[in-house]
Amino acid sequence: MSSLQSLFKPNSIAVIGASNNKEKIGYSIVENIKNCGYSGAVYPINPKEKEILGYQCYPSIGEIGRPVDVAVISIPAAPSLQVARECGQAGVKFLVVITAGFKEIGEVGLKREKELLEICREYNMRLVGPNVVGIMDTHSPLNASFADGSPEKGEIAFISQSGAMLLAILDWSRSRGLGFSRFVSMGNKADLNEVDFIWSAAEDPNTKVILAYLEDVTDGKRFIQVVREASLKKPVIILKSGTSSAGARAASSHTGALAGSDLAYDVAFRQCGVIRVQEMSDLFDLAISFINQPVPAGDRVAIVTNSGGPGIIATDSVERNGLHMARFSKETIEKMRQHLPVEASLYNPVDVLGDARADRFNVALEAVLEDEQTDSLLLLLSPTAVTEPEKTAESLVSLRKKYASKPIFASLTGGKRLEKGARILTQAGIPCFPFPEPALKSIAGMVSYTRLRQKIQRRTPLPEVTEKAKATVKAILYDVMRDHRSVLLGNEASQVAAAYGIPVAPIYLAKTPEEAITIADSLGYPIVLKVASPKIIHKSDVGGVQVGLENAAQVREGYLKIMDSVSRLLPGTPVYGIEVQKMMPKGPETIIGMTRDLQFGPLLAFGLGGIYVNLLKDVSFRLAEGLNMEEIEEMITETKAHTLLRGYRGSTPCDLCAITEALARVARLSLDFPEIKEIDLNPVIAYPDSAMALDVKITAANENEQEE
Ligand code: COA
Repeated sequence: MSSLQSLFKPNSIAVIGASNNKEKIGYSIVENIKNCGYSGAVYPINPKEKEILGYQCYPSIGEIGRPVDVAVISIPAAPSLQVARECGQAGVKFLVVITAGFKEIGEVGLKREKELLEICREYNMRLVGPNVVGIMDTHSPLNASFADGSPEKGEIAFISQSGAMLLAILDWSRSRGLGFSRFVSMGNKADLNEVDFIWSAAEDPNTKVILAYLEDVTDGKRFIQVVREASLKKPVIILKSGTSSAGARAASSHTGALAGSDLAYDVAFRQCGVIRVQEMSDLFDLAISFINQPVPAGDRVAIVTNSGGPGIIATDSVERNGLHMARFSKETIEKMRQHLPVEASLYNPVDVLGDARADRFNVALEAVLEDEQTDSLLLLLSPTAVTEPEKTAESLVSLRKKYASKPIFASLTGGKRLEKGARILTQAGIPCFPFPEPALKSIAGMVSYTRLRQKIQRRTPLPEVTEKAKATVKAILYDVMRDHRSVLLGNEASQVAAAYGIPVAPIYLAKTPEEAITIADSLGYPIVLKVASPKIIHKSDVGGVQVGLENAAQVREGYLKIMDSVSRLLPGTPVYGIEVQKMMPKGPETIIGMTRDLQFGPLLAFGLGGIYVNLLKDVSFRLAEGLNMEEIEEMITETKAHTLLRGYRGSTPCDLCAITEALARVARLSLDFPEIKEIDLNPVIAYPDSAMALDVKITAANENEQEE
């Protein structure tokens, strides 16, 4: 991955469209560069001016005569292409195109954006935007944007697909004293996109946490590969909007974003170790927690409160957020018993009672922090006549130093009386909220990072298959295309599956009753017959299935019955013959499926099969890209079907390894053949020593789709 070092730390920067007119964006950009303390060379470009904000002005980029790392373009869209070309000819490394009027306005803009990208490619220039506010790095320092000033210096990198969001956050952050390492407006992401900026922030020594506001992901495959590595280095927290169908439409008209399925985003983020949040406030609450706190070792929370109500609310919230209440040791309880009143509740949540002063809080706080069962601590304080908010806050700050490995959060619920105490905590880096819920959401976010990080470190790869297997599948798909079909016949699908080691009860195609009998004799009875037609999806509905055929006579009769029924109910439908399959013994039914997501590629599904599949919706999902065997095992354990398969109430356990292997091979097949659009193994019977799919449907992209 190419380095963005010269973008965020340029030796020289040119502003094309720089202006002496304070109303112009071109003025604000130069003003920001100057005011942020940027120490490199600055070249304003404007054919009419000699000097702008004290910098010598040039009529064009070509006339500077010295190397330029970054050129910011702030002139209207139509002439910007010619200027971009001049930048290329002058050897500029990075273009930041502020100008709007590209992909986001439709056909004309899209054509313009493609041309801009072509120019950049021709001259080996990287492009930020177009349609951006600009970029900032507080440590360089650099502010190449038309924002209203710069953020405070800090350790949070904020990457945004919406410029307006970035500007709003900048303003808000200053009122909260929140610092940033970088601000990046990505705009239309014609070239550089979230993957480049997330990776660059992951490598940036001044960034501790990476936040992103996204409306879509440009390249799902690259996202999975790169962001996974980034998450191992530092927390990546993403708010992805457009989850509702109306939101997705709005996102698409905003920056021309192509929103894929939200489910796939969810799965992709989890597989990459990304913490996904749903609200802007969560994004920053979590960022502040990561900046100031150690990551909790586990999910056990200790709560100390001076009032019952908030204690109960917080306890409920612990559960809702997938956390657990710490169970204190006998020693901890004993320690508290010696110093707290008899009415106090010594079990989690610890209630030190409404008349508690700072000393009583201190006893409880220290006791639970000392306990090995506590992974994180939440202080809840409501104001009573005797509460000492500032003193309590100060004692929590000193405990934090003593127990530095455990994250500490606070919720001071009240108003004016608590303001000073809250300030003491915030200044010491203890996240302090007016209510308990956001504190617990933040703890849960931190815990999920620990878990996700552990998960993405496991990497047993998917099995590979031989070149011969690939050639077999290729030849079958070629025949299907040549036949202008997209749905594979049962026998073709079964051969594809078999080539990849996916266990499917073999299916053979018979074109006459005699052929069916010969195949049935070789397979052994009982036998199942199914109509073979790419046009018939629900075979049973048209009398296209005969089961439990015990001998040659029944096979002949079944064959003729199917042909007769189909020709009566669906006259003229092409029928290729009859599929012959051995009838398999019964067992727990599961399903394995694959559909292809627009952004992230093959999305695998596993769940309970049979007649309840739609009712129970017991399905778990993973993306095939970057998938490993451990993830597949986890995918199976996430379903209720897992309880059944492990051996429920004395039933024999099923072969989970065989199911895992089948899923892995379906993933491998979908990765190797992008032209396969859908795979449906239903049912897959789980036996004690194997697994076997009884039916397999494979759909390939038809010719038109492949040309896209
Ligand atoms: N080289 C150098 N300077 C040039 C030039 C060129 N080829 N062509 C024009 N200029 C000068 C102009 O003369 C003007 O200078 P002046 O103020 O001294 O007259 C300056 O560059 C700016 O050009 P102008 O035509 O006045 O454009 P503008 O400032 O009105 O608008 C944009 C330019 C980029 C701001 C505007 O087209 C735009 O896209 N606005 C939306 C930006 C936006 O919202 N981005 C996304 C944020 S989320």
